[in-house]
Amino acid sequence: MKAVGQIFGHAAALGCALGLAACKQPPASRYTFDAGLRDMGRHVIERAGCAACHEIPGIDWPEGRTGPSLAGFDGVGPIAGYLPNTPANLARFVRNAPAAKPGSTMPAMPISSEEAHAVAAYLYGIDDD
Ligand code: HEC
Repeated sequence: MKAVGQIFGHAAALGCALGLAACKQPPASRYTFDAGLRDMGRHVIERAGCAACHEIPGIDWPEGRTGPSLAGFDGVGPIAGYLPNTPANLARFVRNAPAAKPGSTMPAMPISSEEAHAVAAYLYGIDDD
C-alpha cells in the first residue's frame, strides 16, 4: 500500500508541475521574502488603498468587501481563479489586473512594478507571522 501511495504522490507532483488548475497549493508558505521588502509592500498597500476593496490581515482599515479577502493568500489556488500562484504573476496582477486577467473586475492600480513586487512579498508573507 505504501508503494501505491508513493506512486500517486508522484503523479500528483507531476500534475502540479504541468500546471493543472485542480492542484491545491501546499498550505505552508512557499516563498520567503526580505522583511524590508514586505514592510515596503505594506506601505504601498496602505497608500494605494487596496483595503478599500479587500480585507487584508495587518491592514486594519477599511476592510472593504468588493474584492475577495486576501487572508491566507499564500495557500489558495490560482490568482483570481486564473493565473498560476507565483510572486511574478501576483505582482503583475496587483499592478494591472485587467491586463493580467482579461475581464477582471479589479482596476489597474497606480503602483510601479517595484512596488508591485513588494506588495506580492507582503501578501505571501501574511501567513509567516
Ligand atoms: C476597486 C476595488 C479594488 C481595489 C482598489 C483593489 N482590488 Fe484587488 N480585487 C478586486 C476584485 C473585484 C477582485 C476579483 C477580481 C477577479 O477575480 O478578476 C480582486 C482580486 C484581487 C486579488 C486576487 C485574489 C484571489 O483570491 O485570487 C488580489 C491578490 C488582489 N485583488 C490584490 C489587490 C491589491 C494588492 C490591491 C492594491 C494595490 C488591490 N487588490 C486593489 C477589487 C479591488
